[in-house]
Amino acid sequence: MEKRILTGIKPTGYAHIGNYFGAIKPAIMLSENPNFDCYYFIADYHALTTLKTKEEMQEYTYDIACTWLACGLDPKKVVFYKQSDIVEDFELNWILCNVTPKGLMNRAHAYKARVEKNEQANFDKDAGINMGLYNYPILMSADILIFGADLVPVGLDQKQHIEIARDIANAFNNKYGKVFKLPDCYIQEGVSTLVGLDGRKMSKSYGNTIRLFASEKELKSKINKIVTDSRMPGEPKDVDCTINKLYKLFVDKESAQEFEQKLKDGLSWGEAKAMLFEVANNYIKPMREKYLYYMEHKDLVDKILEDGAKKARVIAKEYLQKTREAIGV
Ligand code: ADP
Ligand code: TRP
Repeated sequence: MEKRILTGIKPTGYAHIGNYFGAIKPAIMLSENPNFDCYYFIADYHALTTLKTKEEMQEYTYDIACTWLACGLDPKKVVFYKQSDIVEDFELNWILCNVTPKGLMNRAHAYKARVEKNEQANFDKDAGINMGLYNYPILMSADILIFGADLVPVGLDQKQHIEIARDIANAFNNKYGKVFKLPDCYIQEGVSTLVGLDGRKMSKSYGNTIRLFASEKELKSKINKIVTDSRMPGEPKDVDCTINKLYKLFVDKESAQEFEQKLKDGLSWGEAKAMLFEVANNYIKPMREKYLYYMEHKDLVDKILEDGAKKARVIAKEYLQKTREAIGV
């Protein structure tokens, strides 16, 4: 039977290599399978918890849209849209609020982490936290449930959110009868957590990212900033280093093994960085050209997203209608 795949990315900054290998690439590979019916979207209303200005919202929304297209998303195969265009999503969000125990939201990682930070700083535990952040997992559940998604490809950090979506779907189904499918998350082996410049998870929140479509110059300068140890040229290097982990992503197995051997044989960090730049740039270059084309033809992108929203809303309306009937409105 055909399976519905759904995933979204928040436009909270320029797309980085972690987003590409952890989310975009695996999602595009799935969309090439004819047994999968794919719904990919830009979670712009989720970005509201982070963004400060209208300009940021517009810039990053186009960045993510053009990134998906440049990386190979085919709008004929994938229903591709902006979350904010699916008005049905926000009605379902409200309905789901009413079957979601508050305690479940208290346990959500993103909220808990903010509370812990406040407590350590001796602030009120909810200082600086708005209801958008607190209810974030409910809207995410609505995003998934309103399309009856079976599989949700995400990075490991989002696993809890998919579990919450299942809990909420269950709570609704138990109260009103079965309306929603229970989604599963799909985490690709080996790329679950990509490291950034400082060796921690690559993330906009740590400021350690390599922008996917940075110019060649910026890419080189970012790669030169990767933190290494102080081993000298000629000394064997630890292959568990950031450079090796990143290098592997851009090449086949054989080239990865050759590089690893060179590190063991004492390749200098400078040479290793130059080699990483070379393979990363070769890999990214053709996609970067497409990205720049779309960024200069935003009307094309708008049209693709509008068409996607039209298709998506047909399904969203059906699920919302079933939900309304189950409730009795
Ligand atoms: P960030 O942590 O930079 O804010 P997002 O939360 O916007 O990234 O992530 C968008 C998608 O990319 C999610 O599916 C997320 O799991 C994935 N992702 C983000 N960073 C990484 C990473 N370092 N490794 C693997 N996947 C990642
Ligand atoms: N919360 C996801 C993230 O931070 C983005 C997202 C919003 C999402 N709604 C979704 C992902 C629905 C998958 C399905 O990356």
